[in-house]
Amino acid sequence: MLTVDVELGVRSYSLFIGSGLLGDAALAHKISAETLRPGKVVIVTNEVVAPLYLAQAKAFFAGRDCEAIVLADGEAHKDLAAVSTIYEFLLSRKYDRHTTLVALGGGVVGDITGFAAATYLRGIDFVQIPTTLLAQVDSSVGGKTGVNHPLGKNMIGAFYQPRCVIADTDVLSTLPPREIKAGLAEVTKYGLIRDRAFFDWLAEHAAALTACDPTLMAEVIQTCCRIKAEVVAEDECETGVRALLNLGHTFGHAIETATGYGTWLHGETVAMGTVMAADLSARLGWLSAEDARRVRRVLEENFGMPVVPPADITTERYLDLMASDKKTERGKLRFILLREIGQGVVASDVEANQLEATLEAGDRLCE
Ligand code: NAD
Ligand code: GLY
Repeated sequence: MLTVDVELGVRSYSLFIGSGLLGDAALAHKISAETLRPGKVVIVTNEVVAPLYLAQAKAFFAGRDCEAIVLADGEAHKDLAAVSTIYEFLLSRKYDRHTTLVALGGGVVGDITGFAAATYLRGIDFVQIPTTLLAQVDSSVGGKTGVNHPLGKNMIGAFYQPRCVIADTDVLSTLPPREIKAGLAEVTKYGLIRDRAFFDWLAEHAAALTACDPTLMAEVIQTCCRIKAEVVAEDECETGVRALLNLGHTFGHAIETATGYGTWLHGETVAMGTVMAADLSARLGWLSAEDARRVRRVLEENFGMPVVPPADITTERYLDLMASDKKTERGKLRFILLREIGQGVVASDVEANQLEATLEAGDRLCE
């Protein structure tokens, strides 16, 4: 088992990564004795994950009073109605402040459950058991919780850290290949913003990674979580460096909202947004043309990501959607761009004509 610690003072916690963790009685005992307060457990999952892993998750918390809430699946259901379903379940059964919520699922279940935990009775404990690659390398770590609003992606939420994260790599065996690739696209972000050698390594091992080689996967998850833990420890509430983790998200969230939640996978929109960010970085003279082409090539050829944005989103629509981006400061858009592969930067002084050129490049991005 590999571990990573997120150092946040009294809110510090550990991530456990490896094969067979959901069946690991010693780990279950350790977490129950040292991490969780005594009390009931409510597992929140969805209709796809429940038949696969709910029994195992319940067994992990054996010895505790444990019930489950099964939500509808999908990004389209990441909304306040889902949070309300959790509140109603807990309130109608009089669950108190000693209850621990457990998120068993991908980023959607994790974000909804974390937000419910942050707000139920002004905050109860929660544990993340991420079951997608994207959730294991990103969304289960760092305490961003929340839901979508019809007017914008992830617009309602709270920073609220879990008590621990249990990333069992065995669960990735049932994940559809499209989801694995979308998760790997999110993985490349860590290399692009912080570690060129890691990006090169990912490109080189893409075939083994898309085939979900278990040893490589555990190493990749640990590397991503270590980078994310360092960034979050430095800037928990995103007043500075944490914004770099949003590479590709300003464009990507706009595409996700414009196309309707769930049409493109989150990781696919982030990859698309990363190609747009690389294109803009090259137009600004930061990223070399050769490296911009490489970013596009690796995402498209090695990880099968879309690299041509939807033709029906106009520049005006992009600008309107991006104006709601959470990184916007006093009406000024801020982008995460690349000085080079391995060095992300926050840019707030992008010329309108350069941004428009990227938004209108279509299938010529990064040429
Ligand atoms: P997801 O949660 O929708 O999961 C993808 C699909 O896989 C779903 O249909 C799900 O039911 C299914 N699934 C989950 N585990 C499975 C398994 N082991 N086997 C088979 N199927 C399985 O999507 P995601 O990519 O995990 O997460 C995307 C969400 O995460 C977005 O809403 C995004 O905004 C959010 N996110 C949050 C953060 C954060 O820091 N909080 C970071 C990145 C992304
Ligand atoms: N996924 C971006 C962040 O956690 O900050």
